[in-house]
Amino acid sequence: MRSLIDIDNFSVEEIDELISVAKDIIANPAKYSEKCKGKKLATLFFEPSTRTRLSFEAAMLELGGSVIGFSEASSSSAAKGESIADTAKVISAYADIVAMRHPLEGAPYVASLNASIPVINAGDGGHCHPTQTLTDLLTISAEKGRLDNMTVGFCGDLKYGRTVHSLINALSRYKNIKLVLISPDELQIPSFVRYETIEKCKMEYKETASLEDALPKLDILYMTRIQRERFADADEYERLKDSYVLTPEKMELAKSDCKVLHPLPRVNEISIKVDDDPRACYFRQVRYGKYIRMALILKLLEEASSPKASVRFDGENYILDKLTCTNPRCISQTEQELARIFKITDRSAGICRCIYCEGKQRF
Ligand code: CP
Repeated sequence: MRSLIDIDNFSVEEIDELISVAKDIIANPAKYSEKCKGKKLATLFFEPSTRTRLSFEAAMLELGGSVIGFSEASSSSAAKGESIADTAKVISAYADIVAMRHPLEGAPYVASLNASIPVINAGDGGHCHPTQTLTDLLTISAEKGRLDNMTVGFCGDLKYGRTVHSLINALSRYKNIKLVLISPDELQIPSFVRYETIEKCKMEYKETASLEDALPKLDILYMTRIQRERFADADEYERLKDSYVLTPEKMELAKSDCKVLHPLPRVNEISIKVDDDPRACYFRQVRYGKYIRMALILKLLEEASSPKASVRFDGENYILDKLTCTNPRCISQTEQELARIFKITDRSAGICRCIYCEGKQRF
């Protein structure tokens, strides 16, 4: 049995297979309309969502299955203090597969350790959003016909944008991807992506604050929203919120076959006047999201009958109950019963990472 917590959980071959199945579903929907008959998806959303929750629900319904769940923490027993581990055990008695979104980083991972059914991370704080990454990859593949040999520009909130971090991570595994990172200084890509993905994988990249300078070279422009909910300082959000606005005038600088993606929701970083430009893909991207989630549900349910891999945190490779995670957004900060476990990632430099949120710590 497998879960999807981080895009790294799947190999490139598995991602390519999911994309291929999603394209087959688009071409032959009737072939798949009863594949999940009798199966139930639980959508546990502790944080707001439109696309992710509803596309998961539409995906399961179009596969002939059914859906249960909740769309806000206040309508679940989390409001009475029930832990994620207990919630996961309870849901395993009612459903065959779970999609979970939670504001705390690592919550879906905790659920996967405790559930007896596959768990899909539908977004955990600023950490990961692997099904958005699968959506983005299917969109690029369908719109450009390839996933390699491209210059990809990421624009806006590169610091808090979990979709940006996950997509860069996924693209690092394809050939000849050049990155242009467009952001104000305050919202530059975090060091864990810069050093541990971009530089480690020797990806060619440059940073700029100017969208106009970057646009003419791009094959893909990935716009993002400045994420108000992740800012501790409201004044800083107000100062940065309109850093970039894509307009029809700016689109005149872009290549004729450049494709504009956005995970949505947008606030005002793309003028609605761009929507009719054939290069604007973001509403088609929403549709691709449903098809890739159909392919994902099929894959995880097919593998659900195989035994769950046992996870062993040995004292050789992990530090057990000695350190406390300092990330205030980590699930281990609020769930006091959780074991404090850090994976040693660089023994010679004395660096380890919290297994829930991947926050870095020295030991
Ligand atoms: N892209 C995305 O995750 O949208 P929602 O927050 O509406 O699910």
